[in-house]
Amino acid sequence: MNRFSSAKSPIRVAVTGAAGNIGYALLFRIASGQMFGPDQPVALNLIEIEPGMKPLEGVVMELKDCAFPLVTDIVTTSDLSVGFKDVDWALLVGSVPRKKGMERADLLGINGKVFVGQGQAINDYAKPSVRVLVVGNPCNTNALIAMKSAPDIPDTQFFAMTRLDENRAKSQLADKAGVPVGQVTELCVWGNHSPSMYPDFENAKISRQKATSVISDEAWLRDTFVPTVGQRGKAIIEARGASSAASAANAVVDTVQDLIKPTRGDIHSVCVVSSGQYGTPAGIITSLPIRVDGAGKWRVVDGIKLSDYAKSKVAASNEELLEERKVAFGQLGLSF
Ligand code: LMR
Repeated sequence: MNRFSSAKSPIRVAVTGAAGNIGYALLFRIASGQMFGPDQPVALNLIEIEPGMKPLEGVVMELKDCAFPLVTDIVTTSDLSVGFKDVDWALLVGSVPRKKGMERADLLGINGKVFVGQGQAINDYAKPSVRVLVVGNPCNTNALIAMKSAPDIPDTQFFAMTRLDENRAKSQLADKAGVPVGQVTELCVWGNHSPSMYPDFENAKISRQKATSVISDEAWLRDTFVPTVGQRGKAIIEARGASSAASAANAVVDTVQDLIKPTRGDIHSVCVVSSGQYGTPAGIITSLPIRVDGAGKWRVVDGIKLSDYAKSKVAASNEELLEERKVAFGQLGLSF
């Protein structure tokens, strides 16, 4: 028994694709306490497909060699009924990543069915309070597939990740304005985690002032900033020869933190199930500005003013999500 284990009961976290590149960057941050806090014990359920089980053994050796005092248990498995058993969080990271020349939506047919099986297993074996964060692309639609496959788990417990895009957008604005990135706040990414996403520079703040008054070059904001954020994943694949891993893992940590801690003074981008806020189609999983209250409940921030330009960008991205849903659900025989 370690010095923490008697204080709080462990949070059990499942991670799929645990031996993959994102998994490798993520597990050590969960185990060290960066995700759930420095006094919160964690139990890890590491899930891999059969060919990943051998490399996963090596990852577990390294986890053990870190002697993280917060880790109470490590389970490795390719059996979803074991992997999702009694988990509090399911981080669905594993999926076939896109290669050069592909869009994330090209992965629909390849990855979609994986999320049916994972959703069903989460439904049957996880705690009813489980929260599910989908990272594997196309993450919005994969999260929707998992949600539909888990009818006993409330829809509000399914999320997909656009915090990576929020972080990218903040960094781009900070560089342009010549300020530290921590000065950029209230920057929400709307829509799909795809090139159509809309990073809302019009409501963002830089050093507490409107970003558009600090960066008055509107042509740059519309024609350089927005596409740069939307295409950042592709730029990384082209430069690295592999898709983002460390920054994606970092955004997983940020997203979980955004969802478990009361939000102070900022807003965050998380893909959640829409109930029609801001004219978004109800029932899809789309990126919206959220805040979490003192009781740990998230809600979409209301009262944000979107210009006609912003509304058209958000609508176009959500149209794309409706199309992805139509294609994926058609292929998988799911109904909306
Ligand atoms: C990213 O945005 O870096 C990831 O979604 C990977 C990708 O395919 O772009």
